[in-house]
Amino acid sequence: TNTPATLVLLFGATGDLAKRKLYPSLYNLYEKGILSEQFAVIGIARRRLTHEQYRNWVKDSVETFGMPQEKIGKFIRHFYFQSHDVTDENSYRELKGLADELDEKYAANGNRIFYLAMSPEFFGTVAESLKEYGFTDTKGFKRLVIEKPFGWDLSSAVELNERIRSAFSEKEIYRIDHYLGKEMVQNIEVIRFANAIFEPLWNNRYISNIQITSGETLGVEERGRYYEKNGALRDMVQNHMLQIVSLLAMEPPIRLTTDEIRSEKVKVLRALHPIEKKDVHKYFVRGQYGRGIIGGKEVPAYREEPMVDPNSNTETFVAGKLMIDNFRWAGVPFYIRTGKRMQAKTLKIVVQFKDIPMNLYYRNGSSLNPNLLVIHIQPEEGITLHLNVKKSGRTMETTPVKLNFSNKNVDGINTPEAYEKLLYDILRGDATNFTHWDEVAYSWNFVDPISEAWAEEKADFPNYAAGTFGPKAADELLQRDGFFWWPITNLNIDD
Ligand code: BG6
Repeated sequence: TNTPATLVLLFGATGDLAKRKLYPSLYNLYEKGILSEQFAVIGIARRRLTHEQYRNWVKDSVETFGMPQEKIGKFIRHFYFQSHDVTDENSYRELKGLADELDEKYAANGNRIFYLAMSPEFFGTVAESLKEYGFTDTKGFKRLVIEKPFGWDLSSAVELNERIRSAFSEKEIYRIDHYLGKEMVQNIEVIRFANAIFEPLWNNRYISNIQITSGETLGVEERGRYYEKNGALRDMVQNHMLQIVSLLAMEPPIRLTTDEIRSEKVKVLRALHPIEKKDVHKYFVRGQYGRGIIGGKEVPAYREEPMVDPNSNTETFVAGKLMIDNFRWAGVPFYIRTGKRMQAKTLKIVVQFKDIPMNLYYRNGSSLNPNLLVIHIQPEEGITLHLNVKKSGRTMETTPVKLNFSNKNVDGINTPEAYEKLLYDILRGDATNFTHWDEVAYSWNFVDPISEAWAEEKADFPNYAAGTFGPKAADELLQRDGFFWWPITNLNIDD
């Protein structure tokens, strides 16, 4: 299916995201013949580039991803550049001139996508100016796409939302959480709702706990300035991790529409057991990496990274225990952990089932492993189900086995890229895999007391070495409940 004729106004056109994700994704859609020939992109940034220079820029970012040459030349002719100052009136006038001209040239019917891949401090100003200077007065569809972070806490998010909503309706706003574009994140619903054998067990009668581990081996790289202000709680938990929790915990929607799915997700976020400031230490653990070894090489501590305060109180690791106060989940902890400079780049969900009522095989000397359903989100994609079976031979001893499903793509990596799918959704006007305002608000509401409590107390950092899975306190969080983190490195699909 072709996407409709569209003009894309891309703010932040020379930035990292545009280069690494957006151009290659657009190119993939173009190459597959999904992107209508009636599309044009205005790249918008402060610096001055000619259309030709910008096209080369786009070409470079596409080529580095190993794309074939043939279509590239045709592809980049759809790109135009406009130098822009987000606070300057004349700047908007010029931009509007070009937009109107291209709208006509490409017969885009006034369909416009405004993509803000820029510093969040400008989100509000740009959204308001787009309305003020008449960019939204066309007859076609208007869609505003916003990258994270959406606010810094609940009150700044409310303020930002009000500014944006003065120019765009909620239905026109696409808040990106790129985890919702990941193949296996989208698969959570299908695993749950397209199989008869999981949903009947998917509750506090049969599930003992759920563990979500997200690890990165990278440190903060060049993002010290952003990261210092945000930390892992705001960078990963408020959005990606809570989104995953809501998909795992939600009730089956009555149908697969955007609104129905969202309303079920929102209910989960509303049911999160609120953590009061004084109780934060019982539920959440923070960490910051010190020096350590990653891939055989010594790497610096967080406090030694560029643009980072040598006494920084910013967390690069978070582990938490979330309780969901509803009939389905009462009593079942959802443990999450996420961090920079961990032992592995990984994202896995482990659903641990309760023990069987009595172990008939104990006499044979073998204890039974609990059943686990592991959802592998990245870098491996797949599902494994851990069962106990009989050891073969003249014995009734048991042994654990794994049933594996590996969602291997042709080239063995995450294809299509999350961003390719999300761009496709935006072009077609499907907002299901984007974050609704209510989700943003309830997520901040949950996270705020934790960040407030942490801001008030100087942490004893660094407290974990790069190349590990975080501080000891993260293990103790589960030990207190009689659980442990399933060792991620032993959970791979093909072991
Ligand atoms: C981003 C965070 O949202 O997600 C980054 O800002 C993080 O800090 C990134 O590195 C991780 O994304 P992925 O797709 O590599 O898991």
